[in-house]
Amino acid sequence: MTVSKPEPARLSQDDIQITAFEAAHLDGALRLSAETGWPHRTEDWQLTLSVSKGVVALLDGAVVGTALCSTFGDVATMNMIIVDARMRGRGLGRALMDQVIGLGGARELRLIATADGLPLYEKLGFVAYGEVHQQQGIALNATPELPVHSGTAQDIAALAAADLQASGLSRAGLLANIAAQGDVLLCENGFALLRDFGRGRVLGPVVAQDVASAAALMTEAARRCAGHFLRVDLPADAGMSEKATRLGLVAAGGGIAMKRAARTRTPSDYKTFALVSQALG
Ligand SMILES: CC(C)(COP(=O)(O)OP(=O)(O)OC[C@H]1O[C@@H](n2cnc3c(N)ncnc32)[C@H](O)[C@@H]1OP(=O)(O)O)[C@@H](O)C(=O)NCCC(=O)NCCS
Repeated sequence: MTVSKPEPARLSQDDIQITAFEAAHLDGALRLSAETGWPHRTEDWQLTLSVSKGVVALLDGAVVGTALCSTFGDVATMNMIIVDARMRGRGLGRALMDQVIGLGGARELRLIATADGLPLYEKLGFVAYGEVHQQQGIALNATPELPVHSGTAQDIAALAAADLQASGLSRAGLLANIAAQGDVLLCENGFALLRDFGRGRVLGPVVAQDVASAAALMTEAARRCAGHFLRVDLPADAGMSEKATRLGLVAAGGGIAMKRAARTRTPSDYKTFALVSQALG
């Protein structure tokens, strides 16, 4: 076996190689996420890869494990952590995590844990701090209770500052990339981005100063997607779950938000009401 760092004792298959994630691994990674039941398309992997470094585990040249680290200033998110179902329970998940934790360096590390991943992350020192509700379905037509209008990619510099206040993530480049391929929704006290993802579209982030503004942005997104599939990933404490249900977006799982090496945050006027994605916070 060839690994770029000391190998865990239990990982004894001679023919598993852990190496840097490169473009050539994308098809194998896509196959792995699809086999795990995740909806990501090639474009969704590419968006995440555009802000990430990562590793793959290879068995006879085939991708049997992935893990990415996406860096946003002082914070990094760990994501797309997948081990082929036939290879689980042998220490491969831990070996991949050790590598991406190293890529995160001294940053605060965040992830959204599935039930499968939770025991591993707890052992690696991640601490739960909240829950995320994944809600999705065929969006219902509704009218926002506050005015919402369209913005452009040119608005992103100002919007990214509000997003940084809300999330602690410095990600103007990512938001500009999303805005260039999706819709920018603006209201007086907040903004949201709407883009293609997986089975349809996803709304996120939703960043606002109050629940009423966030609800208006989500309602406008539902109006634009009415009759089509829409997904949102909502921090459970943001108070948006019931509103999403009324717009046709029903509970479809979620995860536990976890942190390691957490930093103290400055209080902010803005709050995150929906994530860009579970991968990217
Ligand atoms: C999560 C996942 C990557 C773990 O991969 P893996 O190769 O099976 O993980 P490992 O064999 O390295 O096990 C990791 C640790 O978790 C522990 N663990 C796993 N399941 C456990 C459980 N149900 N209860 C307690 N501990 C458990 C293992 O004992 C191991 O601990 P150890 O290293 O101290 O012995 C894999 O299950 C997977 O791909 N799941 C589907 C995709 C997914 O949900 N990914 C997580 C996204 S956040």
